[in-house]
Order: sequence, then C-alpha cells, then structure tokens
Amino acid sequence: MHHFTDRGGRLFAEDVDLSALAADVGTPVYVYSEATLRRHFRVFADAFAETETLVAYSVKANSNIAVLKVLADEGAGADVVSAGELHRAMKAGIALKRIVFSGVGKTRDEIAAALDAGILQFNVESAPELHLINDVAAAAGARAPIALRVNPDVAAGGHEKISTGKKEDKFGVPWSAARALYAEARALDGVAVKGVDVHIGSQIDDLAPFEAAFSKVASLINDLRADGCEIDTLDLGGGLGIPYGEGAIPPHPDDYAAMIKRVTAPLDVKLIFEPGRMIAGNAGVLLSRVVYVKEGEEKRFLIIDAGMNDLVRPAMYDAHHDIRPVAARTGDKVPYDVVGPVCESSDRFAKDRPLEPMQAGDLVAVMSAGAYGAVQSSQYNTRALVPEVLVRGDQYAVIRRRPTFDDMVSLEAAPDWL
Ligand code: LLP
Repeated sequence: MHHFTDRGGRLFAEDVDLSALAADVGTPVYVYSEATLRRHFRVFADAFAETETLVAYSVKANSNIAVLKVLADEGAGADVVSAGELHRAMKAGIALKRIVFSGVGKTRDEIAAALDAGILQFNVESAPELHLINDVAAAAGARAPIALRVNPDVAAGGHEKISTGKKEDKFGVPWSAARALYAEARALDGVAVKGVDVHIGSQIDDLAPFEAAFSKVASLINDLRADGCEIDTLDLGGGLGIPYGEGAIPPHPDDYAAMIKRVTAPLDVKLIFEPGRMIAGNAGVLLSRVVYVKEGEEKRFLIIDAGMNDLVRPAMYDAHHDIRPVAARTGDKVPYDVVGPVCESSDRFAKDRPLEPMQAGDLVAVMSAGAYGAVQSSQYNTRALVPEVLVRGDQYAVIRRRPTFDDMVSLEAAPDWL
C-alpha cells in the first residue's frame, strides 16, 4: 500500500497536492513518500520479527541520501555494489556492521575501502575475487568476512534482463564449484568464512523459484557443515516483486517470510535480506507535464516532458508503469502512445494506453517509479537530471536539485590546443 491517493479528483502524495508541487518545483520531477518508504520497510522487517534478521536495503534501487537516511532511521542496513554506494550508505549514517558488499566486479580499491570501513560482509562472486580480497586483507593484516554468492541455476525474474540465477548468468559461483571453493576459502589467512549468499533475480512474482533456490542453498549449508565449515549467516538477496498495475500480483512479504522460515528454520542461521524494489518502488512517482498532443496518421501521441533518459524501465525492460492524470479529466478514454522528447523511437512510456482525453499543460504521474528510476537516469540529449522531492505529511523538500546547464558541463574541459 502506498500514500499516493486521489482526493476529489486530484492526486496527492500524502497531504501534498501534486499539482501545486509541480507548479513550485517544475517538471519532470520524482516525488517520494516518506511514509510509504517507512511502511514498506516495516512490512518487510516485521514479517521476520521473531527471527534474527538483517534487512540490508539494496541501495541501487534508490540511492538518494535522504531516502537512505529515512531507511537508516528505520534500522535498515545496506547492500552496496560499489565504493560510491558505500560512500552514500556511510554518509546516510547506516551502521557499518549492517553493510554487505555485493557485485561481480569489485576492484582492489573498492575492496580496500570496504575493508577499511569495516563492513559486515563481502558477498564474493568468483574464485579470482576471493583471492584478491584475501590478498588485500592479508596485506593489511586483516581477515575479510565473506560469504560466497552461489548460483543455484534457477530461472526467475520479471524479464530476462533482470534474471540472475541461471548458470549462463554472470552472477555467483557455479553450483558445481561451490563446495570446493569454500574449502579453498577456509585455507586462506585473509578471509573469514561467515556464510552463504544467493540472489536469483528481480521483480519475482511467484514463491516457487525462491523456494527452489533457497532449498538448494539449505542443503548446501548442510554439506558445508559436514565438511567442517562454520556457516553463521545466510543472505537470501532481494527480488520480491511489487504490483505495477498490470501482470501478476506478487506474494505478500508475510507469505514470503513463512516459506523462508519453513525452509531455513532447521539451519539456525542469521538471515540477511537485500530488498530494493519492494521498499522503494511504490514509494515514488515521476511527475511530468504534457507538452503536446500530436495526432499522427495512425496514432495519437501524448508527448510529455519526461523521457527515457529520466525513466528507462519501459524502454529497457518493456516495463509497464501505470500513468495517471494528476487532475482527473472527463470523457471517454482514448488510446495514446505516451512518449518523451528524446530522439529515439524507444522513448515511449506506454503504447495504446487508454486515458481520458488530455491536453497540453496537463500533468501525469508515472506510477511505481521509486525504484530503478532516478538512479538509472542520464543526461542524454543534454537533458538535466530530474530533481527529486521527498514528501512528509503536508511538507516537502527538494532532495536533489535540478542541475543548471553550467552544472552539467562543469566536469568537461576543452584541451589547451582548442
Ligand atoms: N541484491 C542483489 C545482489 C541484486 O543484484 C539486486 C538487484 C538486489 C539485491 C535488489 O533486488 P530487488 O529487491 O530490487 O529486486 N533495473 C532493473 C532491476 C535490476 C535489479 C538488479 N539487482 C529494473 O528496473 O527492473
């Protein structure tokens, strides 16, 4: 449940009228609801209340410092995948011992930074990475806490581009090599084996692939323990889907938790989760204004001032996002292709989407845009990065300002010879 509601034909974020916010801050703009972020975090954390659990919010979903501060305040940890995300998590005040570091390509510098910071755990994705972490830690006279991310060869995820748990995917240690690599890790002086990690994909709307993967991992833990390896933590990744207004309704966190407790209870391990989308996805909308209504020969286009550079999910993953007029319009619905101004045919948010007749100047809200929205935006076509706004009750604050054109070119320089 989120806090973007219709009040007498006007769309509100909590107690803020989005038309007034758009007039003040300008469009396009991302708007997040603090109450929704907190609510989603609590729904997830409460589902595991009786179990020893760390909910390490996946920073990649929405990494704005203000969003991270809200979640830090709820007691969230962080799942980071770069030194940049580690920097953000630390800046937001997330406790170091609640930070896990994932990702297939951690560099020596990133490993050193995370080791120096004293994070909870490295989720290691390959044998060469294991050895690099060992080298860096041993040189510093330290032992890096690690889990191996294993690839259970289970298909899952809302789109092939966000499925990560099949053996042909680049992620994780091959299932057949896992036991031997644990034995290798135990013999190294620079690492301390803590646990097992798995993450099979994103926008998963069915418990079956989770259960298949987690059951395999549970039996691996039994095998590792039989080999004499101590396993204290089990990181089950993220991936729980959210309702986008179309497609299957994903399982409720309570049902997800019940299945996990059943599968993992005999193991007596501390559980770690890395949810991203489930927390931030429905806590944000992208507000945009209609620039033109264009009648094509076969299509009617709603050309809005947000583009694929601002929200790439429809272009990149064929993702569905509901689109709502911010002030209710009347009349029979007609199909629109809702498109942006970017010079690419894939700059399209929706195809033949039935909407009440719209006019230039009207506002629309692209719903469920709080996760993988602003973080994946770019300046393509030299369009300014979209500002972000956080709402609390009847107040709001700009949490990332819109850059000026001079800000945008400020990192560039012409060489002396020009
Ligand atoms: N842990 C790891 C290791 C991950 O790779 C991811 C997401 C997560 C946790 C968080 O997954 P979530 O709970 O958000 O599903 N940009 C795509 C999604 C990419 C997901 C990448 N990894 C999209 O917009 O659908």
